[in-house]
Amino acid sequence: MSSNHTLLLTILVFFLGSIFCNVTPAFGSKTHADSWIPVKNLNGPKLVKIGKFAVGEHNNKANSNLMFDKVVKAEIHQGYGIEYNLTIVAKDGARNDKPKTYVTVVVYDQFMDSSHLVSFKGPIYV
Ligand SMILES: *[C@@H]1O[C@H](CO)[C@@H](O)[C@H](O)[C@H]1NC(C)=O
Repeated sequence: MSSNHTLLLTILVFFLGSIFCNVTPAFGSKTHADSWIPVKNLNGPKLVKIGKFAVGEHNNKANSNLMFDKVVKAEIHQGYGIEYNLTIVAKDGARNDKPKTYVTVVVYDQFMDSSHLVSFKGPIYV
């Protein structure tokens, strides 16, 4: 099989996989809104990695210099990928101000092992 065929097959497998994963939740009785699951271990390496990713991506886009501090609240939602809704604390590296709170949504694609920043809002005041 040529490498072109291999590529096509790979794309087809991901395509079918994404259809299957998108369709499956429709059979559940839960709505999107109540299917977020709170994460208890806020220091878990995966969560910290996602938090750092969100800050890094935001810095690239906004040309800012935030430094990830910690995750203070986390919820996940399993769709095609895993959606992470994180409330994080970060410091502005450029200035010497107090840590501030931000809310960010990241989607992690298990098949591609890649993350995507959906939104990054803040600072919010809690
Ligand atoms: C994420 O969590 C925050 C804080 O709990 C909440 O205000 C916000 O609506 C959530 N965002 C989404 C997309 O669920």
